[in-house]
Amino acid sequence: MQAAKQENTTLLDVSDLKMYFPIRKGFLQNVVGHVKAVDDVNFSLCCGETLGLVGESGCGKTTVGRCLIRAYQPTGGVIQYRNESDQTVDLAQLPESILKPYRRELRMIFQDPYASLNPRMTVLDIVGEPLVVHKLARGKELEDRVAVILRKVGLRPEYMRRYPHAFSGGQRQRIGIARALALDPRVVICDEAVSALDVSVQAQILNLLLDLQAEFNLTYLFISHDLSVVEYIANRVAVMYVGKLVEIAPTTKLFSAPRHPYTEALLSAVPKPDPRLRGNRIILEGDVADPANPPSGCYFHPRCRYAKDVCKVEQPSLREIGEKHSVACHFAEELSLSGMP
Ligand SMILES: Nc1ncnc2c1ncn2[C@@H]1O[C@H](COP(=O)(O)OP(=O)(O)OP(=O)(O)O)[C@@H](O)[C@H]1O
Ligand SMILES: [Mg+2]
Repeated sequence: MQAAKQENTTLLDVSDLKMYFPIRKGFLQNVVGHVKAVDDVNFSLCCGETLGLVGESGCGKTTVGRCLIRAYQPTGGVIQYRNESDQTVDLAQLPESILKPYRRELRMIFQDPYASLNPRMTVLDIVGEPLVVHKLARGKELEDRVAVILRKVGLRPEYMRRYPHAFSGGQRQRIGIARALALDPRVVICDEAVSALDVSVQAQILNLLLDLQAEFNLTYLFISHDLSVVEYIANRVAVMYVGKLVEIAPTTKLFSAPRHPYTEALLSAVPKPDPRLRGNRIILEGDVADPANPPSGCYFHPRCRYAKDVCKVEQPSLREIGEKHSVACHFAEELSLSGMP
């Protein structure tokens, strides 16, 4: 389906991405503030790689994904995308009228396979709908194309006239993947794509995603709060906290030698099979900061066990501290943090 592999080509380059949601109050619905769901986020995606995006609930992961597929028009920032004809466009600013081809090239897979599939549509309708909307196939040709895609995701084409309720959770997620793949996309945003599944089924779906990536040279942004899953699938990982990236590094580096105290705390909370290693868990006191009213200085300082005075007043920016390793912490060089054993 895809052209030859173009590794190391930057496909997406996101800079200073912002998504602010207005908070309205009163009879006149005046804007009284903003939820800064995504605030100055920078990262890039190379062709064929998987970037994991992790962080606690409400930190803005889904909002980043929805900005990339332009379900939201970002409040600010640039999303440079190198399209199939090798031209660079800014997806953040493209008017709705010329977005259609990009809606085909960038697709999203959602978390809940029970809620994201319309129960009144057959598998043929669900997987075939994007092909019909983009006027790519109909009638017998549509059925043939849906059959090919279903086989690719490990489902039997004979089931295409069944409704979603006749399938298990894992099979439903395969239907969701088939729908995302129907348009031969280049970038797939997997938003908690395996979080609702049993562990054994999770592994099958992750392996399916890896096989499909290799076959079609797909580029993934893999959003998850589950670090073990991200460790398995991602080449690089970005850690998000209250609308901002706090650390981004190659997966092995981030897991073995984190440089941000928040990453250290997240890693310490990953369940460990060896009971001797379970004692080192860092308990994060307090709740995630409110993106409508974040703390001063470093947003993480109220929960950080290494915080000093400067952290309360000065916001650290994301800076490169090693090869492909960036971190937003004033003391990144001085702290000696623990990673996963
Ligand atoms: N359409 C919206 N209108 C207003 N606020 C929103 C909207 N969508 C998200 N938010 C807010 O933006 C913040 C980030 O939400 P988002 O769904 O991106 O987080 P998340 O990291 O995906 O969380 P989770 O892990 O729970 O899925 C939250 O505070 C949320 O309440
Ligand atoms: Mg989410």
